Amino acid sequence: MFTASTLAGTKPEQYAQLLDQARALVHGEPDRIANAANLSALLFNSLPELNWAGFYFFDGRELVVGPFQGLPACVRIPLDKGVCGAAASTGQTQRIEDVDAFPGHIACDSASRSELVVPLLLGDTLVGVLDLDSPRVGRFDADDQAGIEAIARAFLDTLQ
Ligand code: SME
Repeated sequence: MFTASTLAGTKPEQYAQLLDQARALVHGEPDRIANAANLSALLFNSLPELNWAGFYFFDGRELVVGPFQGLPACVRIPLDKGVCGAAASTGQTQRIEDVDAFPGHIACDSASRSELVVPLLLGDTLVGVLDLDSPRVGRFDADDQAGIEAIARAFLDTLQ
């Protein structure tokens, strides 16, 4: 049984604890659906002020929704659309303070006000993106970005 431990200390310390939990959850499991499902649940239930947390996977043409927590989402996102498409096509994490100021933002859940999207790359190969949405403008800072990027790497490590 999974027991959620309360995150404590500074934000980087909390992300170090969350990373340990994430690594423990995916340890020894190569199935990407299983790991994406458990990581979505971990993130959604451990981090405050989120309304969506989950994965989109690249099918060779566009992003297709994978395991997530939150309201039902857009199924397919072309690489030239939205914050997710921007992360996937540039290979750069997109930390969007206010989604209303991002041209082309796709409003899957009208509650979303800020967004953090980390591209999932194995070398040059695009696997997909890890997407967190918040109902608060400016919810994500550099500590969140570093913490979620580390958890994205823990996910990618299970695929090699
Ligand atoms: N808002 C995203 C779409 C995905 S949902 O937030 C789950 C975007 O603009 O790419």
